[in-house]
This record gives sequence, structure tokens and C-alpha cells, in this order.
Amino acid sequence: MVVGAAEYRAAMGNLAAGVCVVTSELDGEDVGMTATALCSVSLEPPTLLVSVGDGSRMAEALVRTDTWAVSVLPAGAEGTAARFASRNRPSDRLLLADLGWHRGAATGHVILDAALAGIECRTRQRVVVADHTLVIATVVAVRTLDPRGGPLLHFRGRYRALG
Ligand SMILES: Cc1cc2nc3c(=O)[nH]c(=O)nc-3n(C[C@H](O)[C@H](O)[C@H](O)COP(=O)(O)O)c2cc1C
Repeated sequence: MVVGAAEYRAAMGNLAAGVCVVTSELDGEDVGMTATALCSVSLEPPTLLVSVGDGSRMAEALVRTDTWAVSVLPAGAEGTAARFASRNRPSDRLLLADLGWHRGAATGHVILDAALAGIECRTRQRVVVADHTLVIATVVAVRTLDPRGGPLLHFRGRYRALG
């Protein structure tokens, strides 16, 4: 039986996911991309995986650069998520100009001030699967920025808050 992409997307939409912005650097510029396909792989050593689609700027950045960061988005940040997911956006530098952010101490990549947590990573392995690359990284720094805030979730094609 062949499962179609739309059918699969609809089924997987039932798996509520936290929403993140992954950041790195491409041609000397900060780049960011909204992602939900992140997964903790192991605790010792702390290892994180992100799945990045072919053809995106982030895929290019993460092939060329071994470091990246993750900002875990808080409830209410759907505007930020939508902006960093839109194709043909003019420049991530312009998007960042509207937001509070700082540079992670370990990698120098952008971490959004509003994030619940900032996670900095150094890539260990890349695995090409279908039209995505799994980028598997050692976590080199973590910082919980807002221990009380609720998460931004993505569920059945919509952004939601808990509850
Ligand atoms: C809720 C949501 C989750 C997403 N998760 C991922 C993801 O995990 N991996 C990925 O490659 N793209 C993901 N995307 C798509 C990218 O954010 C978007 O297509 C990409 O930024 C556009 O390509 P560009 O960066 O080259 O402009 C997601 C989009 C949305 C709206």
C-alpha cells in the first residue's frame, strides 16, 4: 500500500510538536528556520537531531557549518514561527532586527531572547534520507531562559498553546 504525502502529513499532524527556530550562519549572515522535526537522541553525551529539507537555506548552512543553535519557542510566538517558515522571505537579518536576541556563548549563533530554552550544537554526523538530511549533533551549551513559560505547539496544522 502506498501512503500519499498529504495523508501522511495529516496523520503526523496528530503528533503535537514543540516549535523551534534553528539558527546558523550562511555566507557570513545569520540564518534561521522554523522546525518541529527535532529529537533528543541521547543524554550521555547530550545529542540532538534535526531533520532539514533539501533545498532550504538551512540545509545549505548546515552542510557548510558545523555549529547551530535552537531557540525553543514560547506560547504566543506563532508570528515568529510563521516568519521563519515563509519561503522567499527577504532576509533573516531583517526578521531578526524586529526581535530581541543574543549570541550563544559556545557557538555565537543567534538565540531568541523570548525562547524557553537555547541549545547550542556541534554537528557530528549527517545522514541523507529521502529528501531530508538528519543533522546529528553534540549539545555544547544549554540555557533555560524562561523556566515558567508555556510552549508553542504545532498540532493538526495549527499553532496552539497547552491546555
Ligand atoms: C510548523 C513548521 C514546522 C517546520 N518544521 C521543519 C523541519 O523540522 N525541518 C525543515 O526542514 N523544515 C521545516 N519547516 C519548513 C521550513 O520552516 C521552511 O520551509 C523553510 O524555512 C523555507 O525554506 P528557506 O529557509 O530556504 O526559505 C517547518 C515549517 C513549519 C511551518
